[in-house]
Amino acid sequence: MLNRQMSAADLAPHFARLGGDPIRDAFAARRAVLPWRNKRPLPDDELPATWSRLMSSYCSPEMRLAYIHVPFCANHCLFCGFYRNAYSRDTASSYADLIVEEIEREATASTVGSQLVEAVYLGGGTPSALSPTDLSRVLGMVKRCLPLAPDCEITLEGRIIHFDPDKIDACLEAGVNRISIGVQSFDTAVRQRQGRRASRDEAVRFLEAIRDRDRAALVIDLLYGLPGQTDGIWTEDLRIAADVAPDGVDLYGLNLIPGTPLHKAIGIGKFPAAATLKDIGGMYRAGVEFLAAKDWTQISNSHWARTPRERNIYNLRIKEGADCLAYGSGAGGLLGRYSYGIAAGLDSYRDAILAGRKPIDTIRVSDSLQPVRNVITAGLETGHLDFDRIALPHGGNLKTWIAPLLEQWRSAGLVSINGNVMSLSTAGRFWYGNLVSAFDAILSEAGPSARSNPPIGARANLET
Ligand SMILES: C[S@@+](CC[C@H](N)C(=O)[O-])C[C@H]1O[C@@H](n2cnc3c(N)ncnc32)[C@H](O)[C@@H]1O
Ligand code: SF4
Repeated sequence: MLNRQMSAADLAPHFARLGGDPIRDAFAARRAVLPWRNKRPLPDDELPATWSRLMSSYCSPEMRLAYIHVPFCANHCLFCGFYRNAYSRDTASSYADLIVEEIEREATASTVGSQLVEAVYLGGGTPSALSPTDLSRVLGMVKRCLPLAPDCEITLEGRIIHFDPDKIDACLEAGVNRISIGVQSFDTAVRQRQGRRASRDEAVRFLEAIRDRDRAALVIDLLYGLPGQTDGIWTEDLRIAADVAPDGVDLYGLNLIPGTPLHKAIGIGKFPAAATLKDIGGMYRAGVEFLAAKDWTQISNSHWARTPRERNIYNLRIKEGADCLAYGSGAGGLLGRYSYGIAAGLDSYRDAILAGRKPIDTIRVSDSLQPVRNVITAGLETGHLDFDRIALPHGGNLKTWIAPLLEQWRSAGLVSINGNVMSLSTAGRFWYGNLVSAFDAILSEAGPSARSNPPIGARANLET
């Protein structure tokens, strides 16, 4: 039970390796932080009634988020685990009809109207695959039906191919004020081998055209660890990204996901092996040092801002466990302790919308320790965990109880401790998922009851 000082022996499974270079050697594998971890699925027969109660009697004192999923891509980039459906103009346009219908139908639900939305994220897949007319229709419906805060961040995720100037203008006219473009690598050979079609120069020209419009924060996603992406190419990727001078960048270490075309291609020897985890750690450190030297601000483990226009509200608040309304096939949302998933299969999504139902596939409920997990996850994501913000349900001081673990991580070069704040080193940031998983495992030993469903409504919201 987590109600006492834990010994070094209790905590040893979470210790890092000592000696060596912590960014390359601290753990054998990186742990993922999945949003549905620690949440218990409700039985299928409880989903309709639970959803109906959530939509009619939930409110919360905090502003919320909205997410809209567009599950189409022009092609399957080899490395990607997000790919769902091939883009075709007709399918995408019919899909836009369904999204518009879904948003409009929910607009009158008392829960939807009960709180302002501070950030909307159109993600995918590839939202920029939609036609200018469909983008305007979807965004127009978002503005008509959701109570957007006056300074609401509205992000559209896109890629270079098929994101023509008229689409960019349609998005800006419809209120998009943040555009996140997946570049992955600027190196023509590296990117084209992964299924990205534009050349380096085309990519740069495309990004400069958005930047020069000066009407939205521009964010670039880069991947490191792709096959053929040497340290030299990575440095060049960083240099070109900085020269383009967007408002923000994301740096993601390649996760070689089983089942992806890249994983299969490497498995049959068609591709050279991807970078090792040790190499990926080194590339992360190179990215951190490069951007620090340029005076960019690191606002999360994988995200940097060059200008104050880059607020990154959606991504930061989602890690804090903020409420999120979700729309579209494959989207996921959260209301208090209830997270929900919308049917990922296009047919079941369409059939439900046409039948007048929300295509809810799963609802999971979290336990009473979720607010503690949220504080830990959000703190570690931004590099600083303030233990004074952690209120355990039965009282007590988490920092004192796990002191041997914090001391071990400090000796291993992952963290520093200043008073009640634990700060992550660059190595600690790289192994962020492992640190979150250690906290999760320790908290789960406390075993709070997740057996009974918490009530939905104002009282439950105060508890979350
Ligand atoms: C949900 S994807 C959508 C991006 C957009 N469709 C595009 O291709 O530009 C968002 C980002 O996830 C990152 N990503 C995709 N697959 C990844 C993988 N296997 N490992 C790490 N990051 C990945 C990429 O950097 C990508 O830009
Ligand atoms: S990287 Fe983007 S465009 Fe490529 S398959 Fe993944 S979601 Fe689709």
